[in-house]
This record gives sequence, C-alpha cells and structure tokens, in this order.
Amino acid sequence: MMVTPPRVAVVTGANKGIGFYIALQLGLSGLFSNIIIGCRDATRGSTACQEIQQQVADTVKVQSMALTIGDRNSHSEFCKRMEEEFGKVDVLVNNAGFAYKGSDPTPFAGQTKKTLETNFFGLVDFTEQMLPLLRQGTDPRLVNVASMSGRLRQVSPELQAKFSDPNLTMEQLQQLIKKFERDVQNGIHREEGWSNSNYGISKLGVIAATRIWARQEAPIIAVNCCCPGYCATDMSGHKGSRSASDGAKNAVIPAIMDNPPTGEFFSDYAVSQW
Ligand SMILES: NC(=O)c1ccc[n+]([C@@H]2O[C@H](COP(=O)([O-])OP(=O)(O)OC[C@H]3O[C@@H](n4cnc5c(N)ncnc54)[C@H](OP(=O)(O)O)[C@@H]3O)[C@@H](O)[C@H]2O)c1
Repeated sequence: MMVTPPRVAVVTGANKGIGFYIALQLGLSGLFSNIIIGCRDATRGSTACQEIQQQVADTVKVQSMALTIGDRNSHSEFCKRMEEEFGKVDVLVNNAGFAYKGSDPTPFAGQTKKTLETNFFGLVDFTEQMLPLLRQGTDPRLVNVASMSGRLRQVSPELQAKFSDPNLTMEQLQQLIKKFERDVQNGIHREEGWSNSNYGISKLGVIAATRIWARQEAPIIAVNCCCPGYCATDMSGHKGSRSASDGAKNAVIPAIMDNPPTGEFFSDYAVSQW
C-alpha cells in the first residue's frame, strides 16, 4: 500500500525492548510511509532498522537517526534533519528511558540526576524542539511512554495538588522536579512529601508534562501517555510478565486510534486513572 501524502513516525530508543515493537507495529499499521528510529548507537540502530524493514511492506521506509536523549545538541541535530528531510512529523513516541537496576551500588542521591536528565528533562527539551514539526503534521500525535510508577499518589496531598493543577505551566513543572532534585541532595525529600523513587518522580513529571502539552497543543496535536505494563526487557532484567510486543500496544493505540482523546494515561490497552 502507498501512503500519500507521506506520513512520518518517530520513535525514540527503538533499537530494542518496547520501543522496537512500537516502531514495528507502527510500520505494520499501513498508516506511515516513513518510520524513523532515534538511537544513540549507530550500529544498534542500523541492526534494528534492518530487522524492522524485513517485516514491513517495501513501501514503508525504516531509517535510524542518531539521537541521544538528554544531549541538547543531539536533539537539535535530529530536529534539523527531520526539518530538512520531511518538514514535519506526524507521530512522535517518546519511549527512550532509563532505570538503575535494583542491584546497582550507586547511592540513591547519586542516581537522581541521570534518571531525571534522561526520563524527564531530556524528554521535555527534545519534545519542545519537535513540537513545531508535529504542528505541521496530519492528524498529529504525541505519545509519552511513562509508567504506573509515575502515579500521583506517591507524593503528598500538597504535591499532588501542584502536579495536577490544571493551570500548571511547563516552567513550574520543571521547577518542581528541580526541587525534588535539591531535596534529595539535602536529604529531606521524604519530609518534603516526595516518594523514595527517582524513577517514579521522573515518570510523574512525564505524565504532568503530557497534560500540559495536551492543553497547550489542543486541538491540533493529540497528546497522551501510557504505561506499557511490566514487560520482559533489559530494563526489567527480563522479569516482566508481559511481552515487549504486548507492552508496545499501549503506546501504539493512542498513536493510531481514530478520534483519540488528549491528555490521558493509557494502561492495559485503555484510558486509565493517573
Ligand atoms: N520494561 C518495563 O517493565 C517498563 C515498565 C514501565 C515503563 N517502561 C518504560 O518503557 C520504556 C522502554 O523501556 P524498555 O523496558 O524497553 O527498556 P530497555 O529495554 O532498557 O530499552 C530502552 C531503550 O531506550 C534507549 N535509551 C536509554 N537511554 C537513552 C538515551 N539517553 N538516549 C537515547 N536512547 C536511550 C536504549 O538505548 P540503548 O540500547 O542505547 O541503551 C533502548 O533503546 C522506558 O521509557 C521505560 O521507562 C518500561
């Protein structure tokens, strides 16, 4: 099938795990002419690219492009290339994410910066740079892969009110997450109402950011987030009870469904509560 005019989907961190299957399923959907996988390692990227290309129609072109989430220059380079090659993006799935293993000896406070930099601050900067391209898309969608770990109830009622404030701005959200970082460094994050999870707060931030972009970009871009479920990937040490392929569906559904909602959290293949 030929998709006209060209429709372009970008998936970050798609060289393995859930992201690989998100890219594959978007490629198989028949709705895209171009699938771009953003990968930080060129060899891993081109191997994954070939594997996906073999499974999708010849009319779908799968490409790997260099992208390191958390590196502002890499974000700009990627966006520049997308602008030059396509002048637009129809679907962006922010899937790249990082979690320290439970067995990692790095102390809690030492894990905060890297976790937030990849999962939250990097995702926010990259997305802000991609929004002008998405606004040029046809029926554009933005999907952020968050997690159940980002649930609102993990923080105090005062913080819950701040994160779920319908007037919260991106600037205020970034300041809140920076406060968590400072509170951890000062050893007072529990007293200040935060959970004891760097990963959980990074994903809470992603869900709050989703709701801000949903308001800001309505009615042009449908912006949603999801929890893939506990999946058997490198991140979970392959302990997850769900396949990466099934987990991927939670991101693919809001990326391709007819009449999508906006500002919602998908889990177990349907809209769920934050
Ligand atoms: N697995 C689960 O049970 C589970 C549950 C809830 C949510 N999630 C979320 O689902 C998403 C995918 O997780 P997964 O289980 O598939 O993990 P994974 O197997 O560890 O894969 C993560 C992917 O993200 C890429 N990545 C990590 N940091 C990056 C960076 N700074 N720049 C560019 N790419 C980066 C990795 O690239 P490299 O190969 O180069 O490292 C890899 O392609 C993550 O956002 C994760 O938080 C997973």
